Amino acid sequence: MTANLGFVKPTRRTGELGVHSLDHFHFVVPDLAPAKTFYGEFGLEVGERGSNLTLATEGGPHVWGTIGEGPRKKHQYISFGAFEDDLDRFAERLQTLGVRRVDPPAGVDTNGLWLHDHDGNLVEIAVAPKTSPSEKSRFVQASAGPLERGAPSRSAVKRTRPRRLAHVLMFTTDVMKAIDFYSRVLGMRLSDHSGDGIAFMHGIHGSDHHMLALGKSNAPGFHHLSWDVGSVDEIGVGAMHMLSKGYDKGWGLGRHVLGSNFFHYVQDPWGSFAEYSADIDFVPHDADWPAADHPPEDSFYVWGPNPPADFIHNYEA
Ligand SMILES: [Fe+2]
Repeated sequence: MTANLGFVKPTRRTGELGVHSLDHFHFVVPDLAPAKTFYGEFGLEVGERGSNLTLATEGGPHVWGTIGEGPRKKHQYISFGAFEDDLDRFAERLQTLGVRRVDPPAGVDTNGLWLHDHDGNLVEIAVAPKTSPSEKSRFVQASAGPLERGAPSRSAVKRTRPRRLAHVLMFTTDVMKAIDFYSRVLGMRLSDHSGDGIAFMHGIHGSDHHMLALGKSNAPGFHHLSWDVGSVDEIGVGAMHMLSKGYDKGWGLGRHVLGSNFFHYVQDPWGSFAEYSADIDFVPHDADWPAADHPPEDSFYVWGPNPPADFIHNYEA
């Protein structure tokens, strides 16, 4: 019940250096109006800050991402959260590893450490509250008892409101180099991978099975943003709502093998996806996940419809 009612003390793995959360992302699109409509209908709280849109989840102050204007849809940066007393150690690590620090993007006011990853993507390590889960996220599969109605009338169904950003899947030109970079520099750990085609990485201080996923492409770009919900019903209700608003392309309902989450992906106005995700596997701060290499044909999804032909197309390439 505690997860239901709020505060869970942030967990921390002692003696090891690593980011604890995927704090926020930033990307640009040619026109903010379709972005505002899409993410609002998806169930997020869309606000404005300066010339950017902000994406928050219901009832929470955290801004999970910002969207600016640019000539075409393009990923800009990801900011990872770290514990305050780890930031100096990260600065030392960057120096030791010969990773050059770069200036923050113009107009971004921050005291974080900025660097480029193996693909030239801008990455920040900043002091931030731990927003990754510190225990397995609540998941409900209610079953009605005798003489009880299990399902509500359609008119009584509540809109789906995601609880938090769960993960981002980035395209990368080299999955093995990505694993190496995000492990050595940011202190994340490999959860599972399928050869050099896709990899899933978690934070060491208590995290979902993945807060960052990396898929092979000929160029960087972001493939999907995943948002955590509490039941398969919420996934279905969210998918139906998006369909009723004309967002009829996507993939789901299904269940992944790696991460185990139930999913439905809705294609956004730029060809990438927003995922409703429920019941993803959890890696506690005081235990190690048994990372393994899985054959792709046996590990993409357990069940679900066939993915659309452009599901792994990189529209940013
Ligand atoms: Fe996902």
